[in-house]
Amino acid sequence: MSIRSRWLLSTMAVVAACACCAAPAAVSDKRDDAAALAAEIAALKAQVAALQTQVRGPELGQQMLELQLRHDRLWWAGEAGNWNLAYFMVGELGEALRGIEQSNGDAAELQPQKLSEVMPSVMNPAIARVQDALARQDRAAFARAYDDLSAACTGCHELAGNPMLVIQRPRTPLLDNLRYAPPPAK
Ligand code: HEC
Repeated sequence: MSIRSRWLLSTMAVVAACACCAAPAAVSDKRDDAAALAAEIAALKAQVAALQTQVRGPELGQQMLELQLRHDRLWWAGEAGNWNLAYFMVGELGEALRGIEQSNGDAAELQPQKLSEVMPSVMNPAIARVQDALARQDRAAFARAYDDLSAACTGCHELAGNPMLVIQRPRTPLLDNLRYAPPPAK
C-alpha cells in the first residue's frame, strides 16, 4: 500500500469513527457547554456577592432625613389648607417610602425584621388615611391622620430599638422658601 493510500484509509477511518460517534459527541459537547455555563454563572454570582459587600447601599439614616423633610412639608401644606400641595407632598412621601423599601429592604438596622415588609405594613394605612382626609378637604381629619402617620413613624423607630426618635408635628417649617398658602383664586 502506498503512503498516500494508507493516509487515505486512515483518514476514512477517522471520518467513519467520527460519523458513528457523532451523536454521543454532540451530547457530551452540550454537557460540557452546560458545565462551563454553570461554572461561569457561579463565578459571576461570587463576583456580585463580593461587589455587594463593597458597594454599600444608601444609608438608612440619610434616607430618613428625606422622610423628615417630606413629613414636615406635608404638615405645612395641609395646615394651610393648600390641598393640592398637600396631596402632592403625601405622594412624594409615599414615593420616598417606596424608594427606601426597594433600595434598603434588608436594612441591618431593622433585623431580624425585614424593612421591605415592616415599612409598607405600618406606613401604607397611615398614608391612605392622610390621602382620604385631603380628598375630603377636612382639616380636622387631616390633623388626626397626620398625628397617626407620625405615630407610625415613631412605632417603627421603637421596633428598631430607637425609641428616642419620636416624630411629631413640626412647629416651624424646615424651609420657608416654598409657599404653603394656597394661591389666590383666579
Ligand atoms: C421601617 C421602619 C421605619 C419607618 C417606617 C420610619 N423610620 Fe425613621 N428611622 C428608622 C431607623 C431604623 C432609623 C435609625 C437609622 C440609623 O440607625 O441610622 C430611623 C431614623 C430616623 C430619623 C433620624 C435620622 C438621623 O440620622 O438624624 C428621622 C428624622 C426619621 N427616622 C424620620 C422618620 C419619619 C419622618 C418617618 C415617617 C414618615 C420614619 N422615620 C419612618 C426606621 C423607620
